[in-house]
Amino acid sequence: AVERTLSIIKPDGVEKNIIGEVYSRFEKAGLKVVAARMLHLSQEQAEGFYAVHSERPFFNDLVKFMTSGPVMVQVLEGDNAIARNRELMGATNPAEAEPGTIRADFAQTIDANVVHGSDGADTARTEIDFFFKPEEIHSR
Ligand code: CMP
Repeated sequence: AVERTLSIIKPDGVEKNIIGEVYSRFEKAGLKVVAARMLHLSQEQAEGFYAVHSERPFFNDLVKFMTSGPVMVQVLEGDNAIARNRELMGATNPAEAEPGTIRADFAQTIDANVVHGSDGADTARTEIDFFFKPEEIHSR
């Protein structure tokens, strides 16, 4: 089924100048960028976006990292977009990511892991709503 998912190129990915490389992987996998914006997350935004992790021991480091520089946020649309994007990203910990995945190829650490992607249909809806108004999404 055609799905939408929320993707973020994290501060390390923007700093490494691989926005185009990552977009190219999305496009080659049949995912379309149907909304996109660059922004520097405030502490409040980062805490809000990652609220589900607020009790986890890595939460403070995660928020600090995600506010350390600008990010690219985008909505990807396509067949099975949620799972497909997760395949392209590889495991959360780059040390465990399959060769050829974005994280295996470009990421250094579990925090600086270049990309975020929604992990399920409910999360995708919530995360897309967090960043984009319906009229900012250009389905095609
Ligand atoms: P992301 O998919 O953006 O969701 C939460 C982020 O927390 C995750 O990617 C990692 O970058 C970061 N993180 C740091 N430590 C852990 C951990 N032990 N388990 C899961 N995520 C972690």
